[in-house]
Amino acid sequence: MRHLRELQLRMRGCGSGLVLGIESSCDDTGVAVLEAPRRIRSSLVMSQVEEHAPHGGVVPELASRRHQEAVVGLVRRCLAEAGVLNPMRELSLIAVTAGPGLMGSLLVGLMAAKGLSQGWEVPMIGVNHMEGHVFANVIAHEDLEPPFLCLVVSGGHTEIQLVRSFGDYRFLGGTRDDAAGEAYDKVAKLLGLGYPGGPVIDRLAAQGDPRRYQLPVPLRGTSDVEFSFSGLKTAVLWLVRKEGDSISLPDLCASFQRSAVDSLVEKLELAVQLTGVKTVAASGGVAANSELRRRLLGLSDRGIRVFLPPRDLCTDNGAMIAAAGWWAFMRGIRDDLTLRADPSWEMAR
Ligand code: KG4
Ligand code: ZN
Repeated sequence: MRHLRELQLRMRGCGSGLVLGIESSCDDTGVAVLEAPRRIRSSLVMSQVEEHAPHGGVVPELASRRHQEAVVGLVRRCLAEAGVLNPMRELSLIAVTAGPGLMGSLLVGLMAAKGLSQGWEVPMIGVNHMEGHVFANVIAHEDLEPPFLCLVVSGGHTEIQLVRSFGDYRFLGGTRDDAAGEAYDKVAKLLGLGYPGGPVIDRLAAQGDPRRYQLPVPLRGTSDVEFSFSGLKTAVLWLVRKEGDSISLPDLCASFQRSAVDSLVEKLELAVQLTGVKTVAASGGVAANSELRRRLLGLSDRGIRVFLPPRDLCTDNGAMIAAAGWWAFMRGIRDDLTLRADPSWEMAR
């Protein structure tokens, strides 16, 4: 059955096929059916935000338990919504996040994928979560071709990758300490704004004055593509202590956001200068940020082509994993039951 399927796929060239994508690297269970290469038939994300919110961040043990409760039901619903009646016949591939992420969370998705792959005799492939984020752009933009730079900004990562071709990546630089999303979450926590911090700071900042408080722009003007957000977070802490109750939350959020976004955009511009690559994309939860999106789109005034996925593809989802898996599968990459979860799998270094 499996060999027949491979043969059919090869005869169809790089055509299309139905891919089930499963994402469980952090605190979102994402399942999608992608009609490869780009049409999302269904995509469901079960967020665990409410469970983790009282703790001010993701509790790994809790996250894996919730994935376990969610994953099978989500697969069922997703297949039904996609109109897949017979997965054994209709699916061409199961793509699953194998790292980086929380070990206990990754294992849940991986075990589900292995079981389904065996039961349905459908090939399976392990996907790097960061490569998945890059592919959110590929799903959204048919005209996006390598080489391009991708700013991947999430709760766990902040880095710029040069996509030389699909599957061939060069790491240009990342954060020395906290990720950008982590900084949003920590600042929100110290301001008592709850978890996750990104969306609420984004909302409050829209009503504030970004020039009210002077905060440092981390590593501004250095010649390296490098980020650092822990000093900015500490600067916010000192400011809050100094100003006390008179502090304006919207102005503080806007000022913090201005520094964080300046840093992200300036380093992306530096990467453009250093590589000569004038096409950029962004992804990861922080790429849903209104101010970052506005500033990135503004780069087109400088002759840079800018691609952004819609917001729901920026945050973790199964469709981006399905897309990255499909492209890897078309390059001949295959995995089997020996596939392991790797919590620190680097996309390219
Ligand atoms: O990519 P993602 O869903 O999960 C990880 O792989 O980490 O990113 C989650 C992160 C969180 O830190 C969250 O606060 C941040 O993305 N985030 C935002 C916004 N929406 C989500 N940060 C800034 N502005 C937003 N609108
Ligand atoms: Zn992510």
